[in-house]
Amino acid sequence: MNRDALLAELNEFLRIPSVSTLPAHNKDCRAAAEWVGAQLRRIGCETVEFVGSETHPVVWGKGPDVPGAPTLLIYGHYDVQPTDPLAEWITPPFEPTVRDGRLYARGAADDKGQVFCLLKAIEAGGRPAVNFRFLIEGEEEHGSEVLFALLKREPERVRADAILVADMSYVAPGWPAVYTTLRGLCYAEITVRTSKTDLHSGEYGGAAPNAHEELARLLTRLKKEDGTVNIPGFYKAVKRPPKAELAAWKKLPFNEKDFLNRRVQGKGLVGIKKYSVLERLWALPTFEIHGVLGGFTGQGAKTVIPAEATAKVSMRLVPNQKLKTVEKQLAAAVKKLAPKHVTASVRFLHGADPAQIKVESPSFKLLDQAFKEVTGRGAVRARAGGSIPVVPALSSAGAPVILTGIGLPDDRLHAPNEKLELKQLWDGIEVFARFYALFGGVRG
Ligand code: BES
Ligand code: MN
Ligand code: MN
Repeated sequence: MNRDALLAELNEFLRIPSVSTLPAHNKDCRAAAEWVGAQLRRIGCETVEFVGSETHPVVWGKGPDVPGAPTLLIYGHYDVQPTDPLAEWITPPFEPTVRDGRLYARGAADDKGQVFCLLKAIEAGGRPAVNFRFLIEGEEEHGSEVLFALLKREPERVRADAILVADMSYVAPGWPAVYTTLRGLCYAEITVRTSKTDLHSGEYGGAAPNAHEELARLLTRLKKEDGTVNIPGFYKAVKRPPKAELAAWKKLPFNEKDFLNRRVQGKGLVGIKKYSVLERLWALPTFEIHGVLGGFTGQGAKTVIPAEATAKVSMRLVPNQKLKTVEKQLAAAVKKLAPKHVTASVRFLHGADPAQIKVESPSFKLLDQAFKEVTGRGAVRARAGGSIPVVPALSSAGAPVILTGIGLPDDRLHAPNEKLELKQLWDGIEVFARFYALFGGVRG
């Protein structure tokens, strides 16, 4: 296939600013859905549906049937995360640009570039003997409400012999991976109110409570300096990975110093010191503050005691933890840890249960083989720190969910200057083309 033409096509997709969490981009999300729909028709889908929402529909496709062939459901998402801080982008997020063999754009790796790769692989290898189904959603970055509702109404949509999700990365260059767990997520806003209205800090300062100060204290009570989350019951369901798995992680190309210096690019790592960094990233739950609102943040100076302050926070959850339980635990902890003179409330925005995937079924061997043929190495078993809300629901019908991807760990997902290395894209198309051919051979 002509790489210039492919790149031009991917760039069209990347130019659509389909930021799902910002209502100002509703039209763009729809446009991205239409783009996916057009691609599905191009590869021969006789059914293409836009389901569940005008603005963020799930794009459903049913490929040309090959009688007797196995069914592969392909999942991906066309929505992307916001682009701020915009000033830090070297080239604008929705003007895809290649520098040094890397394609820079919001969504290049997460997940438009990968969806593109899965689709183009169907044409690349000559039509494989596979019954393709497609579920490409537009709300993955926002909790997947529309897709959850669809799967509840029509669970038969996920009936397949295997489900392929390419929304992750290699563990290092040259080291493809399949993932055995995903962390879950509980996203919330914690608001504290300390008085009816804002107050003059000269007239009232020294005696009136300050919402920002109370919020700061509440947040530091919820997570201690040593990294432990101080929510009663939070760790109860958490299990340490088996010894053999921890030992296998030591053989992965991961080095804590490199992680600090090249990836975090900070001065030091934090977290519960008695656990390795990989265990902290992959097998322990977290509590993070994403942003704090309230008080005066404009230009210049204003002497005011804010009456209200809000923190956006989230907790990553690990296997055996349950979103519903953690929501209750957080609400109870906030109630318990806020002093009497403060009104504290919690509002939950979205969330996801963690996922645990068995990687023993034959499809995983086929993917190993495809990776091995194309990159020289089979897929190593790893865990993922991130979340894909719908994965537990996808696997509920029993088909194995293959969590893999063609990104690299330094692709800067959700951050400025997100990129996808072109080598990863071209290799990826070959890998999936090979995988489809092998998969079609299983029963075809
Ligand atoms: N592709 C990521 C998930 C991911 C990232 C898995 C890195 C493994 C490694 C996905 O698009 C994502 O960012 N999900 C959100 C979900 C949330 C908003 C519910 C996440 O993890 O923050
Ligand atoms: Mn993604
Ligand atoms: Mn993402």
